[in-house]
Amino acid sequence: AHPGWPLEAGPLRVPAGVVTLRPVRRRDARAWSALRLFERDYLEPWEPTVEGRWHENNSARAWPPIHAQLRRYARAGATLPAAIELDGRFCGQLTVGGITRGALHSGWIGYWVGRPFVGGGVATAALALGVDHALGPGALHRVEATVRPENTASRVVLERCGFREEGLLRRYLHVDGAWRDHLLVARTREEHGRGAAAALVQAGRARRV
Ligand code: ACO
Repeated sequence: AHPGWPLEAGPLRVPAGVVTLRPVRRRDARAWSALRLFERDYLEPWEPTVEGRWHENNSARAWPPIHAQLRRYARAGATLPAAIELDGRFCGQLTVGGITRGALHSGWIGYWVGRPFVGGGVATAALALGVDHALGPGALHRVEATVRPENTASRVVLERCGFREEGLLRRYLHVDGAWRDHLLVARTREEHGRGAAAALVQAGRARRV
């Protein structure tokens, strides 16, 4: 077994409800597809380009191979893939990926929350639980994230979880039809203190359940 896998974290209560992280499941197909299939305009400006057509890539049938690949990478110690649950319902995904051990002990973190569930602190709680898990049970030293400067909501989420800006990566990632600049933000164990969830609780943004 690799450190931090399987990823189970939470619960944490925010205005939207109770947020938990758990491993992705094959039977998430319907819920996953329902939140993505008709939300192209909402998701596409922020997600890495994937070859193929949106409605095929996000149909319920597309999930089993995606799920299988996530599990394969997780078993190899390269990813920690999680479903975000709100009050026990699948509402999005959070993934720690690109995990490298040795002298790096680092990985990236990324997430999305289904449109019906946004605006109530779900992503903030999920990211706090995810980064605490990665730097705790996951035994990483550093977690980084990249975000488009235009993605105000995600930048707010990252800042509330203590991610510090490190610079601008020029034409870094192919997103929404072009190579897009991304801000690089990161958090290391030295600056993590009692953790991101504890900081949210202290700031009155979340409560332990
Ligand atoms: N200006 C200022 N603040 C804003 C704006 C804006 N334009 N838009 C949102 N916000 C605020 C919200 O009001 C909220 O703050 P509040 O709690 O004070 O009201 C905050 O930003 C967002 O916090 P949450 O509620 O925790 O986040 P949410 O659950 O709404 O999810 C997310 C945000 C993840 C960006 C969601 O909208 C999403 O999935 N978008 C599409 C995919 C995406 O962008 N994923 C992130 C890619 S970057 C990465 O993965 C590192």
